[in-house]
Amino acid sequence: MTRPQPDPAGIDDLDLLDPHLHATHDLTPVWARLRAHDPVRRHDRFWSVTRHADVLRVVRDPDTFTSLQGNMLRTLLRGHDPGSGRMIVVTDGPRHAVLRRLLTPGFGPRTLGPITHSITEATRDLLAALVREGGGDFVTRVAAQVPLRAICELLGVPAKDRQRVLELTGQAMLGEGDTGPADMSARIAQSEILLYYTRLAAERRSAPGDDVISLLVSADAGLTEEEVLLNCYNLIIGGDETARLAMAGGLLALATYEKEWERLRADPGLVGTATEEILRWTTPAAHVGRVAARDTELAGRHIAAGDVVALWTVSANRDEAVFDEPGRFDVGRRPNRHLTFGYGPHFCLGAQLARAEIGALLTELRATVSAVEVTGPVTWLPSNFINGVAALPISLA
Ligand code: HEM
Repeated sequence: MTRPQPDPAGIDDLDLLDPHLHATHDLTPVWARLRAHDPVRRHDRFWSVTRHADVLRVVRDPDTFTSLQGNMLRTLLRGHDPGSGRMIVVTDGPRHAVLRRLLTPGFGPRTLGPITHSITEATRDLLAALVREGGGDFVTRVAAQVPLRAICELLGVPAKDRQRVLELTGQAMLGEGDTGPADMSARIAQSEILLYYTRLAAERRSAPGDDVISLLVSADAGLTEEEVLLNCYNLIIGGDETARLAMAGGLLALATYEKEWERLRADPGLVGTATEEILRWTTPAAHVGRVAARDTELAGRHIAAGDVVALWTVSANRDEAVFDEPGRFDVGRRPNRHLTFGYGPHFCLGAQLARAEIGALLTELRATVSAVEVTGPVTWLPSNFINGVAALPISLA
């Protein structure tokens, strides 16, 4: 169930870009060594930043470290992101502020209240089915279902279309990851989804509702059709796989650290801190990327304009300078200044929604399940960006 840890002394031979390295190894000791001895490390094509304080310094300063060329190594090393300047997460400055102002009300209590209610019910049903059947793959059966439903509700997909859209999005997302081009069925699903949202956006232009698409198409926003679609797509890719991995990794942690599960079962007051600890522990976005917009210094290293910088959140979230016993999964951890949702101007817009999804899972698990057991091999996603489990066979009782 646990992955081998590479010898950190052999760090020069490790290729941090290799997606399979992240799937097959637990890099915890490598990150610890980098934080201690080489916290801003030069690789052939990019820098690795591994300390909490240095990650914060970079994400707080978009004038020096821009998102405009992309925010992950995969696109940054290609030299450009197709959504650059148009999709919120890869915009900067005034354009970013406009998109952020436009989207923020879509994530407010008026929208999230009903969504939280509906995902709590969905989680209850999905868990009940798994308990009835004695178990199954938690990723496909529960963790993959809830975030997709939440996004459909956020975007205002009508109930009649939801099943089809859920299926298509699931197929389209299978093509994500960084091990190769999406297969043909994933590409077809992606085109169908885009076509679907194009039609939905056209409907909302003439008959707006309370949903995020209506905000994006509003006349005041002045967004082109392509910008509307790119930002819908940002919500789908930003909120689907990440939340799925937090839920699945959270369940794996609870199954592994039995005492912490018992602590949580005994005390409903721990749901909030357990949610934050799951977010820290799982860190579904392993890094965020930036490009230096001008020459600068970081922890004594000279970063030249144009250099690509990878901020390894997965390491910052285990930084012993910030977290007491960072290698311990502690459902009561407080304070918990994890950087799982990033920080600064691009702080995750879906953070409250993701918290609601994990909170609903914990609440329903406490109410309906007494024992969680891993029953087969756990596999990890091959990706240097998306961090977490691809399959989690479990039994629930
Ligand atoms: C556990 C789940 C999630 C994780 C780990 C996560 C992680 C992140 C991170 C690290 C960023 C900052 C990226 C950067 O600085 O370059 C971000 C931004 C963003 N996230 Fe999330 N996210 C999660 C859930 C969601 C959900 C559920 C949604 C919406 C449905 C969402 C939508 C967004 C958007 C729109 C941004 C861009 C914000 C901006 O650029 O101003 N995320 N997320």
